[in-house]
Amino acid sequence: MKRCFTLAGKSSDVRVLSKEESLEALLSETFPDSGGASLWIADSNSARYLPKHVHSLVIPPGEAEKGIKTVLAIVDAALSLGAGRDARFFALGGGVVCDMAAFAASVYMRGVDVVLVPTTLLSMVDASIGGKSGVDHGGYKNIIGSFYPASHIVIDPCMLETLPERELKSGMAEIIKHAMLSGRDAMEELKQLLPSALKRDVASLRQLIERSLEVKGSIIEKDPLEKGIRAHLNLGHTFGHALESALSFTGCTHGEAVAWGILRALKAGELLGITESSYRAEVEKIVTDTGYPVIYKASPERIVHAIGSDKKKKRGEVHFVLQKRRGETLLSPLPEEIILESVKSGCTQ
Ligand SMILES: NC(=O)c1ccc[n+]([C@@H]2O[C@H](COP(=O)([O-])OP(=O)(O)OC[C@H]3O[C@@H](n4cnc5c(N)ncnc54)[C@H](O)[C@@H]3O)[C@@H](O)[C@H]2O)c1
Repeated sequence: MKRCFTLAGKSSDVRVLSKEESLEALLSETFPDSGGASLWIADSNSARYLPKHVHSLVIPPGEAEKGIKTVLAIVDAALSLGAGRDARFFALGGGVVCDMAAFAASVYMRGVDVVLVPTTLLSMVDASIGGKSGVDHGGYKNIIGSFYPASHIVIDPCMLETLPERELKSGMAEIIKHAMLSGRDAMEELKQLLPSALKRDVASLRQLIERSLEVKGSIIEKDPLEKGIRAHLNLGHTFGHALESALSFTGCTHGEAVAWGILRALKAGELLGITESSYRAEVEKIVTDTGYPVIYKASPERIVHAIGSDKKKKRGEVHFVLQKRRGETLLSPLPEEIILESVKSGCTQ
């Protein structure tokens, strides 16, 4: 797949490598010695995919590293290379590395080129595309950041071979979400490819990644700065973030929380008479077949309280992403009793 998405006037070339293509060959073809310094940023798990003979900074893995301290380490590494304004940063890793390296690129010498080479399923279908960069601070996720689309995004699905099972599933929740937002064809394709993709069949993963990128790409092209339709990408995230918070960010992965949140949003829509029951049941089967837990041992009241603190409130109200059926999405506040009932249907005390 070769595609170019334009975000707020800046174009991002997206390449998903076929079986015959290699990252190193593509890089030497796309970036023949441009004169500027190149710095690769990876974590100790993604570093195994670093091309030979490049300058690199390898950081420890995990969200705890996604802070200003690491951004300063990237700046120091660039300075010690003598990198000027024509430098290029390459991020090789999951969402943590991509978000942080893109943020560092956006501020180093007021902005240098950044190329993302995502290595987790989540970063391939979500974090690498859309231009959001950032780091965590003071207990807040992505509180310092910028809008800085990468000039190139290069995806090699073969890198998923080494990704731990739970991380693979974490990314699958975003693929399910994108298929739901897209409509009939994408959902049928997902149902057909899911079993083989979960067994890491690269061709199935590649097809799902490409479809997901098309869906997210077309949404963000229409609304790069999240003034309207881009908010649909938060499907499942309001309930999901609240679950993560109620479980103190240790009881589930982000993907598990999003999958659970999608089911809660559909349940709330069904209780309101908006969502077709057969559609809710169809998605619940996909979520269960993927192996996500659908019931959590958690306090519904704690989850509802966490929803009240959602940072995406508008005029004091939380707006939920709901669906009538596949491809038909709307944003709406919800009555408190509906929120509580839908949360309760996904919890056991
Ligand atoms: N910018 C955006 O639009 C956006 C969207 C969604 C999420 N995010 C951000 O993404 C981050 C989460 O990303 P993530 O789920 O990729 O987590 P991650 O970057 O922490 O990666 C998960 C784990 O997988 C390891 N790993 C990465 N690639 C590997 C590979 N190929 N083989 C083996 N291990 C590998 C990593 O070292 C890490 O331990 C969060 O910080 C979130 O805020 C950003």
